[in-house]
Amino acid sequence: MADSTSAHEVKSTVDTISTQVLKRINPLVVGDRNILQDNYIPPRLLHRDDQIRALVNILAPAYEGRMPSHILVYGKTGTGKTAVVTQVLNDIKAKAPGDAGVEFLSLNCGGADTEYAVLKGLTNMLLGPNEKKIGEKLGTSTVLDEFKNVLQRRSKLLLIVLDEIDMLVKGNKSGDILYSLSNLNAELTKSRVVLIGVSNDLKITQYLDARVNSRLNEQSVVFPPYNQPQLRDILRDRAQQVLAPNALADGTLERCAATAAIEHGDARRAIALMRLSVQAAEREGSKQITEDHVKKAAVELERNAIEQCIRTLPPQEKILLWALISAYDRGRKQAMSTGAVYEAYKTVSTKIGLSPLTQKSITDYISDLDNLGLIQSTMHYGGYAMGRTRLNTPAIPADTTLQILEESETLLQGLRRKDSAGQSRFY
Ligand SMILES: Nc1ncnc2c1ncn2[C@@H]1O[C@H](COP(=O)(O)OP(=O)(O)O)[C@@H](O)[C@H]1O
Ligand SMILES: [Mg+2]
Repeated sequence: MADSTSAHEVKSTVDTISTQVLKRINPLVVGDRNILQDNYIPPRLLHRDDQIRALVNILAPAYEGRMPSHILVYGKTGTGKTAVVTQVLNDIKAKAPGDAGVEFLSLNCGGADTEYAVLKGLTNMLLGPNEKKIGEKLGTSTVLDEFKNVLQRRSKLLLIVLDEIDMLVKGNKSGDILYSLSNLNAELTKSRVVLIGVSNDLKITQYLDARVNSRLNEQSVVFPPYNQPQLRDILRDRAQQVLAPNALADGTLERCAATAAIEHGDARRAIALMRLSVQAAEREGSKQITEDHVKKAAVELERNAIEQCIRTLPPQEKILLWALISAYDRGRKQAMSTGAVYEAYKTVSTKIGLSPLTQKSITDYISDLDNLGLIQSTMHYGGYAMGRTRLNTPAIPADTTLQILEESETLLQGLRRKDSAGQSRFY
């Protein structure tokens, strides 16, 4: 009897406390939190009417089960390509007559960037749940044959979206897969394939083989970056679906839109900024999301981007970057010649007990860091006697970056100490 009373008391205590707590909290988020994720596709896509119209015009025959041209869609990241293409295809799916035999496949080439991976991915998606899937051990031509067989048995018209198609042709990739796919219609008798290539790289056509280019680029749709008012509309639309009516302080949306517009009109970034601002406000138990939260979110977003980029660097390159930034920070914050960077790197690697790489390897790493946007490396021509010098400067905030480097490379820990005045001192 006494036991059940105390259990009841405990329950009612939690209940009372939670009721009190929840009453005080004014939730900022009232809708589905997933709406703040950047892979969420909203029902309405703003400021993309021209692109939707262009795609529907090109794909119009598919609505009746007939074959449209291949298409190349391109624009920078976050310009709504994936969202728009997905919605247009869903629309065709809904409206094409059931007996027309139109089928759809969508593959992200970022996750499948080899000829084999693309063919395997497409074939397996096309196979039914009870059919044996393709594994790893077959040759590429076998999988291509299998893909053609399934196609012949199956569909009359297959629309294939190859998202992030630039992943198949950049670097040392041959792009042969695109040739094979764009050539399929010459070999198929019972079915037709339409390719919808979606590229984040505006220079995609320069990477394409001339034959592939003339086929794939029969029609193209360009997605320009969003400007600030357009980003604000997109954000407002999303905010209305998930945030409490007064959650946003005046100016917050504008600040998010302005910050994202300065970068490159990327809606994904604008949405990430809004999500992180909401989280910052929630952490502080704030009643509203303010411009100050957006500023904090922007710092966090930048930190995340730097972190992601740094995590994949080889250890020696991390050490080089650490040496460069700390020497720059410690010195007069002037651009450093490659020779000076090499000296700083040698000092640090000796200090942590590694034998330094050659200056040639370090020079290669410097251009790698430059390509990644972590440093800025420019050639200076110092007149007849001086010749050329490469000058290097960090392109990212020093303190954050040193911290990230130390977190991800144990050898770099403990090299910096604070002196009595609280200033960083190095090795
Ligand atoms: N016009 C738009 N209206 C509403 N949301 C959009 C719009 N364009 C992009 N988004 C959103 O921005 C994010 C990035 O869009 P996405 O289509 O993935 O860009 P891309 O494929 O060009 O990199 C997604 O969350 C998407 O829903
Ligand atoms: Mg995309």
